[in-house]
Amino acid sequence: MKNILVTGGAGFIGSNYINFMLSNRDEYFIVNLDKLTYAGNLENLKPSEDNKNYQFINGDIVNSELLDFIFQKYKIKYVINFAAESHVDRSILGSQIFYQTNVIGTNVLLETARKYDVEKFLQVSTDEVYGSLGKEGLFTESTPLSPNSPYSSSKAAADMMVLAFHHTFGMPVVVTRCSNNYGPLQFPEKLIPLMIINSLNNKKLPVYGDGLNVRDWIYVIDHNKAIDLVLEKGTPGNVYNIGASNEMPNIEIVKLILQHLKKPEELIQHVIDRPGHDRRYAIDSSKIKKELGWLPEYSFEEAIIQTIDWYAKNKSWWERIITGEYQKYYQTQYKNF
Ligand code: NAD
Ligand code: DAU
Repeated sequence: MKNILVTGGAGFIGSNYINFMLSNRDEYFIVNLDKLTYAGNLENLKPSEDNKNYQFINGDIVNSELLDFIFQKYKIKYVINFAAESHVDRSILGSQIFYQTNVIGTNVLLETARKYDVEKFLQVSTDEVYGSLGKEGLFTESTPLSPNSPYSSSKAAADMMVLAFHHTFGMPVVVTRCSNNYGPLQFPEKLIPLMIINSLNNKKLPVYGDGLNVRDWIYVIDHNKAIDLVLEKGTPGNVYNIGASNEMPNIEIVKLILQHLKKPEELIQHVIDRPGHDRRYAIDSSKIKKELGWLPEYSFEEAIIQTIDWYAKNKSWWERIITGEYQKYYQTQYKNF
């Protein structure tokens, strides 16, 4: 058995990872440690909850006693650190928890993993650590780190820490830097689910600035398959970019969603821009393709339609989310919009 500690497994990418791996890998025993913040949702893990190779633990990656207990009890040999505060806009509203979880939390987890001699520690990072691109060019693994938001600066700090533990202690760490994910189970504060849900509710769609900021989109299962490959075959001390070469201006995605749902473009409303808004992300993933043989399998055209249809069919999933705390956040972020 391969005993893996997955942190943040009740969030969007982590829950898709666990559900996919447990239905495809008999040899994985997965312990999911998640603090269940506003973004964590155990409903995401329904397909896995009764699996004999799955254990959920409600807790914080900052809690070193709890980590000691988990590493000993479950003989953890692999760690995948998904746990993070992940939303740029929230990091602009208040940054402290981002450094607490994304930097201090990663440090506590890393120190514990070192103590128990793990075989691989995989830090799930982001292309946002590279900063912003102009009209041309792609991020490669050797692009200098130049993060612009509190969120991305906390992720960049964690990346450097993880790589320093390889350099100093020889720890078998790997870092993955992926572009923007989309798919089922994404918390509706992020562009795609937010625009789908607002469209379904005939609410205005708040597009920041001129809507021409570009993001490079990847289907969540393609990301998770890359993570699995890097966990198995990635060379310690290395960084792997992950992306599917699907650059699109935000406004085009918003229009595509409206078109598919047969809603009018009049729902679009340009609102004040995100402070420090990165203009363009685009990722060069030739290293993981050449060295590990990874290739994205999902076409954007098909997977985005399946994703829109998933939210249309799973109203009860998001209707439970968009109450309470979400409404408060929405009011603060979008004011009287
Ligand atoms: P998410 O916000 O949906 O989920 C984060 C999860 O982490 C939640 O379940 C939350 O409860 C948990 N968590 C937060 N703080 C914790 C703590 N202190 N201890 C334990 N659990 C905690 O995020 P996501 O979109 O699934 O992103 C997962 C990871 O992937 C993050 O590290 C993020 O930086 C990275 N990433 C995300 C994207 C993207 O497009 N969403 C792209 C590249 C990289
Ligand atoms: O690039 C990877 C990153 O992608 C991850 O590291 C982050 O965790 C993830 O949140 C995502 O960050 P972005 O800031 O790119 O994603 P978000 O969905 O918040 O925004 C995507 C684009 O859409 C961005 O240009 C801002 C814009 N936007 C977003 C929202 C929420 C709007 O125009 N209106 C909105 O209401």
